[in-house]
Amino acid sequence: MLKEIAVEIQACRKCGLCETRNNPVPGEGDPKAKIVFVGEAPGYNEDMQGKPFVGAAGNVFEELLASAGLKKADVFVTNILKCRPPSNRNPVPDEIRACTPYLDRQLKAISPDTVCTLGNFATAYILPKFGIRPDAIGKIHGQVINVDTLEHHLRIIPMYHPATVAYNPNMKKVLIDDWKVLAGTQK
Ligand code: URA
Repeated sequence: MLKEIAVEIQACRKCGLCETRNNPVPGEGDPKAKIVFVGEAPGYNEDMQGKPFVGAAGNVFEELLASAGLKKADVFVTNILKCRPPSNRNPVPDEIRACTPYLDRQLKAISPDTVCTLGNFATAYILPKFGIRPDAIGKIHGQVINVDTLEHHLRIIPMYHPATVAYNPNMKKVLIDDWKVLAGTQK
């Protein structure tokens, strides 16, 4: 199921980003992962390699994963947009509308216990799906939001985007503390 979604994403032409991308980035990790991380969109390195979080933000991401006692192979990592916006500009509403049905299907296929939204774009997309009005990431990062769907109980943890540390190294401690919250929910 996840593989089929990835094959569709490889051939996707639903928005203009297909004209400028080198490689779509469907996401990767354990198809039965308990934790799914949702970032914003591929950057330069991700677009070149077709893999999520392999650039500078990826290094921070892996460090944070290790700080929480996790490995990339144990979780599933994907993004709101599967293709890189030119010059890493912000995703626009039409792109989000066109692309997020893939994310919805990925989440349904994996059925994780926990979704960590990395940054404002992922948080603003995921929370309203469960009737929750998203606040700015600066306000709600590190909170555990419990939602009950018809099928199961889901935990959503909004977190700062790992790239925040690249711009502001002083933020690292704040991120590490948020990831400790995540680690605590897995015990
Ligand atoms: N930033 C993201 O949001 N996603 C990636 O895959 C890489 C950087």
